[in-house]
Amino acid sequence: MGEYFGEVLERALSRRDLFKKMGILGAGVFVLSSRGVGGSVPSVSPLSFKTIYPNTEDRITVPDGFEWDIIVKWGDALDNGPNLNWNRVYEGCTQEDVERQKYCFGYNNDFVGYFKAPDGAEILAVNNEYFNPELAFKDFLDLTTLKPKTGRPTKEESMLMLEAHGVSIVEIKKDKDGKYTYVKGSKYNRRITGSTPIYISGPAKGHRLLKTSKDPNGELVYGTLNNCSGGKTPWGTLLSCEENFNSYFGGNLNNISDPHVQDLHKRYGVPSSYSAFYGFHLYDDRFNIEKEPNEPFRFGWVVEIDPLNPNRPPVKRTALGRIKHEAATCVVGKSGKVVVYMGDDERFQYIYKFVTKGKYDPTNREANFGLLDEGTLYVAKFKDDFTGEWIMLASVEAGKITVNSNLPDVYKNDPVLVFIDTRGAASALGATQMDRPEDFEWNPITKSAWAVMTYNDKRTTPNAPNPRYPNNFGHIIEIKEEGEDPESTKFRWDIPILCGISGSPDTNSQLVLYKKPASNDTPSISAPDNIAIDKLGNVWIATDGNPGKSRLQKNDSVYVLNPFSKELKMFLSGVPGCEICGPEFTNDYKYFFCAIQHPGEDPADTGKMVSQWPYLNDGVKIPRPSVIFVRRKDGREIYA
Ligand code: FEO
Ligand code: CA
Ligand code: CA
Repeated sequence: MGEYFGEVLERALSRRDLFKKMGILGAGVFVLSSRGVGGSVPSVSPLSFKTIYPNTEDRITVPDGFEWDIIVKWGDALDNGPNLNWNRVYEGCTQEDVERQKYCFGYNNDFVGYFKAPDGAEILAVNNEYFNPELAFKDFLDLTTLKPKTGRPTKEESMLMLEAHGVSIVEIKKDKDGKYTYVKGSKYNRRITGSTPIYISGPAKGHRLLKTSKDPNGELVYGTLNNCSGGKTPWGTLLSCEENFNSYFGGNLNNISDPHVQDLHKRYGVPSSYSAFYGFHLYDDRFNIEKEPNEPFRFGWVVEIDPLNPNRPPVKRTALGRIKHEAATCVVGKSGKVVVYMGDDERFQYIYKFVTKGKYDPTNREANFGLLDEGTLYVAKFKDDFTGEWIMLASVEAGKITVNSNLPDVYKNDPVLVFIDTRGAASALGATQMDRPEDFEWNPITKSAWAVMTYNDKRTTPNAPNPRYPNNFGHIIEIKEEGEDPESTKFRWDIPILCGISGSPDTNSQLVLYKKPASNDTPSISAPDNIAIDKLGNVWIATDGNPGKSRLQKNDSVYVLNPFSKELKMFLSGVPGCEICGPEFTNDYKYFFCAIQHPGEDPADTGKMVSQWPYLNDGVKIPRPSVIFVRRKDGREIYA
């Protein structure tokens, strides 16, 4: 592992000095402009809605003047066939249910991307990250061991879960009252699941570590898994991120003969004890690492999917590196190259960006397919003087890879390894270890990138951009690229929000906005995860972890941070057990979308069903993850 930046810092600074310098010991200790690093500031446009506050109610709550409804939920048929038979799935899943799931909206909706087709069709592309068998299947868990009961999951349960993963693409339409519903049987509707053929492109295509008995050429993977957050390209494709792919692999690492493969799998947590909940390795050899030791190398990538063309096959873009990918946010740099900001969501992992070799062509959509196969991959190194640099890991051009000359020989001798073992390469170059990087978005108004660190309860030593230890509440870092150009390799940084409890006397737990403890009437916030930036530069923050014991013990929620007035408001509360994902807007900003993921999941991990949301009175008693819209009743923009 790379050196903790805190170790470097401690040589120069005492912790007390560090916190003073960070200005988080309380009001009056500011060393930077309290305006942060945002540059020229447009006129302040405060949010007019009245904040709500964290709660534990078993219903969605929004501020006065807003309303919400469900657009699409797990099991809704995307074709013209019947919906999933939820009750039969619960009582005893059959092969017929597995077949239906292939054409029905997937489980645990995460990233939500809004797209508009040239014919005017409105489309949502939604990731389906994982599955809760303890909620969807009756008597699944042994409540003493909290492990699946003997014989569970059954083959049908396991295969239904595989088909409920991946991505759901669905056309949506407003009804006469302006409420969005999904269009059943639309030509745009599409499922990409844990078994869909997906091409491999970029530097790792055909590499020996990507070859398996089912794919001896190392160029075609079956399925995408643990699709967490993602992004949209300027040419209108979805970038879907494979995050905790290790969860699906079983077998004994010690029975793999190649010690290097063993080491690589260890670095990414393969296999995982979660595999018992999915059982894929019991029913499909490719998930058994003893039989197919290379299969895990075929996951952990960014997948490009064209929501406007259901016939275009998805592609894993390996030039973007292999990590537990959270986000892949694109922005066009000053020279016209496309920059993709990415985080690796695990404690002490890194943040990355990729800069394309070629330039975005706004006049020829087709010319941009393949743009993500050539370019340079960087990892961030922060300094305690509020500057930082993007360290080049490797670049790929016309099939030739150039690696950072400071990398160890193992990467120089096999340059493709930088893209397969991206974590190892970043570590070798001394990248800064972060507090679980989640979303990472470019804000076109502050002209800076916003990187979300959700929390890190294992941190015992601070480093400059992750100053709290343990970091129970999370924070957001603003990265100001040199020349306001996302293509730059140097930046300045600051922390606009240290999440926590407003009014808490404990400096490690208090909510701090732009270096000032927040007022007592500011809603408390923890575990920031997915963010979206609106037209005015407001940062919409969805959380995943508010219910945790060491956090708020309230439902996960959506908040809005106005970087100019520096106020934080709470916009939406989810239901017990859920995290909130998305968030997303229509192009006219009159509708807000978000995903209610894993409603009913017990944050205490007892397997108890803590909500049966969405309570639709259709005879179904199990919770169903759903995508919802929110709009103002007066029809104005959501940020008005
Ligand atoms: Fe799937 Fe990092 O959240
Ligand atoms: Ca996430
Ligand atoms: Ca986002």
